[in-house]
Parts: sequence; structure tokens; C-alpha cells
Amino acid sequence: MKFFVDTADIDAIRELNDLGMVDGVTTNPSIIAKSGRDILEVTKEICDLVSGPVSAEVVALDAEGMIAEGRKLAKIADNIAVKVPLTWAGLNACNVLTNEGNMVNVTLCFSANQALLAAKAGATFISPFIGRLDDINLDGLELISDIRDIYDNYGYETQILAASIRSANHMSDCAKIGADVATAPPAVIKKMADHVLTDKGLAAFVEDAKKANITIL
Ligand code: G3P
Repeated sequence: MKFFVDTADIDAIRELNDLGMVDGVTTNPSIIAKSGRDILEVTKEICDLVSGPVSAEVVALDAEGMIAEGRKLAKIADNIAVKVPLTWAGLNACNVLTNEGNMVNVTLCFSANQALLAAKAGATFISPFIGRLDDINLDGLELISDIRDIYDNYGYETQILAASIRSANHMSDCAKIGADVATAPPAVIKKMADHVLTDKGLAAFVEDAKKANITIL
């Protein structure tokens, strides 16, 4: 499973990228607003840092506006994936931008039917939001699984990009289901390394090494 990092925080992206943990980056208007930076500038900086796809989201609501914004975003770098919302206008924009040779990420997906439409529109990525479904007592992981089945049934090449990931468990659950990509905040990716038994075991090893005076360098 590919790891995308869901942030516009350059330092956080750099830290994970240097460790080989970053296959791409996703942003959205809320993330850009949080960065306090100009969308074109910060997106360019991310694209210079990361070689994989960098999702940059349109803000227009009509297809024509999304297409114009998407074309401008796509000019930032070769690795831009234009992100459009899963509305009828967004699907229309997806179709046009895909046919022009751009990567397109269709976001705000909350149902299998929406994911089916995105695949028909030629999306490179579909972004189902797990956490926001869980927030309203629906099952985000079940949606990932349903989309996996549907795409596999027909050989759709649209990649499932699990989004709105809130916990380390979401990451392994998505990997078990077979999501192609999971995008998560840097803190969630780092949290995947934690285990109480690792901490406990390491404390015992440190203690024993001290007692036995073990030195290596
Ligand atoms: O990738 C989408 C993500 O940014 C949304 O996450 O936690 O706001 O639902 P969240």
C-alpha cells in the first residue's frame, strides 16, 4: 500500500520523505488554509520535494470553473493530481481533465455508487473518507471493502485512496482490505511505530546492557 501524507506542512513532509515513507501528498482547502500560505506557492514547494502525486484541490463549484482551475493547478508541476469533489460537476471536470492527460483525484466520496461513477469518469484516484463516515456511526472501512470488490469485479484501474484516516489501526485495516493508497496526517503515520511491548522490551534490553556493561562502539 502506498502512503500519502495529508498535510501542507513542509517540515513534516520532508521528515517523512527522507525516511522513504512518502509516496505522495494530499491537500485540500482546509489544509491549505491551515498552512496560511498561497496555494500555488506551497503546492509548488511540495511538488519540488516529493516525486509522487501531489493532490491540489479546486475551489470552483461548476464544471467549467473546476476545469479552468484544474488546468492552472496542473501547470505547477508534472506530479500534480487535480482534486475535484464528487459532484456531478466534479465528475464532468474529472472526465475532461483526465482526457487532457492529467491525474485526477475525486474526493469527498461517501458511497460505493459515487466510487463507481468516479471510475467511469476515468479518475486516477477515488478518495473515500473513512473517519467522517465513522463520525456519523457508519462504517468507513466497509466502504473501502465494497469499492475494492466493485473495482476488482470490473478491472477498473482507478486507485482507492483511503482518506480521512484518524488512527494507526485505520492504516493496517486499509492495507488488509487492499486499498491502493492511504493518506494520513504525519502524526498518524508516526503512531504506527508505537507498541507498548516494544517500549517495555526495549527498557529491559537497556537495563540488561547496562548491567552487563555491553558496549559496541
Ligand atoms: O484527505 C481528506 C482528509 O484531509 C479529511 O480528513 O480528518 O478532516 O476527515 P478529516
